[in-house]
Amino acid sequence: MLLVIHAVQCSARLLLYVKLGTMEQLIIRGGRPLQGDVMISGAKNAALPIITASILAPGVHQITNVPELRDVVTMGRLIGNMGGLTGYREGIMTLDTGRLRTPEAPYELVKTMRAAVLVLGPLVARFGKARVSLPGGCAIGGRPIDQHIKGLEKMGAKITLEGGYVIAKAKRLKGARIYFDMPTVTGTENIMMAATLAKGTTLIENAAREPEVKDLIDCLIAMGAKIKGAGESTIEITGVDSLVPMANYAVIPDRIETGTFMAIAGACGGDITIKNCRIDHMDAIIMKLKDAGVRFDETKKGLRVRGPKHLQAGTVTTMPYPGFPTDMQAQFMSLMALARGTSIIHESIFENRFMHVAELCRMGANISIDGGTATVKGVERLTGAPVMATDLRASASLIVAALCAKGESTIQRIYHLDRGYERIDEKLKKLGADIKRVME
Ligand code: EPZ
Repeated sequence: MLLVIHAVQCSARLLLYVKLGTMEQLIIRGGRPLQGDVMISGAKNAALPIITASILAPGVHQITNVPELRDVVTMGRLIGNMGGLTGYREGIMTLDTGRLRTPEAPYELVKTMRAAVLVLGPLVARFGKARVSLPGGCAIGGRPIDQHIKGLEKMGAKITLEGGYVIAKAKRLKGARIYFDMPTVTGTENIMMAATLAKGTTLIENAAREPEVKDLIDCLIAMGAKIKGAGESTIEITGVDSLVPMANYAVIPDRIETGTFMAIAGACGGDITIKNCRIDHMDAIIMKLKDAGVRFDETKKGLRVRGPKHLQAGTVTTMPYPGFPTDMQAQFMSLMALARGTSIIHESIFENRFMHVAELCRMGANISIDGGTATVKGVERLTGAPVMATDLRASASLIVAALCAKGESTIQRIYHLDRGYERIDEKLKKLGADIKRVME
């Protein structure tokens, strides 16, 4: 009998966050060369859509290699809120979606995690209706979902917007040809999940090609979906009448956590062996870090990453996969803050993803912004300072900077960090970092 809890069961600390929103901060004394092994956790941006895919098939689902993150707790609460039963123990998430009764995603949950919008497609596909709060903007941008809505309307859903909610209705979705104005990751995932139970065939053109999208496709196929074109920019989904629950589906390793530890090794002159990472997902990141002088060696234990004595400046433009990921832009900027020369970083995906710049400048970085382009003039040294996390990847960039800065930094509002990095302070401590988590 599945353990009946509505919130995902995980460490008390995380639940404390979710329940009380307690504020914690990290205190880091920088300048120590980091060395040793680090194990990469499951990918947040694969786990979240795969959890919502459980809505498509009533029954008990089991997902493995699920990272213990605030966003996973929130997604579990969302499924619980609909009447589902969820449990989480040591990376294994169990969901019983047999008794879902309320096809809704309330604002209280959606406002803390825009990925909640991923329940929209599965709910309309299974129940023929859904009431999902518009995600609203976040620190990095407006985050509209017009492409998600356009796709569902093309498939025959009637969509109205009432009181900040998307109300969707459809007797049965029908296959359609959908062209996205831009390769949206969750837009592709939402429409793909909806199309698995639609009547007829759906073609998604200009689809996102991220490894997390492919992981969701592999999971849906394991559930009985008929999908062709995984990882391509055109995906074809032939609707079926029903799907079966996933059994022990393993989430891929997190390529952004992997890239973050590569940036840490590069910035601190460290010598870190990264275990359980998917090197084939990292081409653009590895190429840019190699240009900066970071050394990579594949060994039996994992990918050995060593930072150079001096980093070289470089240029990067964030692009949809397989380009350089926007989720690595902030961490890369921290690295370039210490490089010899002037670097140019262009953020082409989100309109406001430079919130970390002001904080890095407080640590002595020399960065100027002109629209979506940051010019980073390398400095000899960063110095520790009290800084504030504003969003998930900005928090990661502050950690990269604090670990190689001279002196002590305190990073406040690290609940942003706990959304997407599984116990990163404990992993860093094992590598020799002088880091501790305290209540603010
Ligand atoms: C996903 O967000 C990721 N989140 C983000 O990771 C990631 O930064 C982003 O993809 C880009 O790779 C999850 O997978 C849960 P998009 P998503 O739709 O799907 C515009 C992290 O740090 N757009 O691919 O919301 C949008 O404004 C997070 O882990 C529309 O205009 O991003 C953006 O400019 C942050 N209309 C661009 O497309 C739409 O309907 C790409 O957004 C949808 C998107």
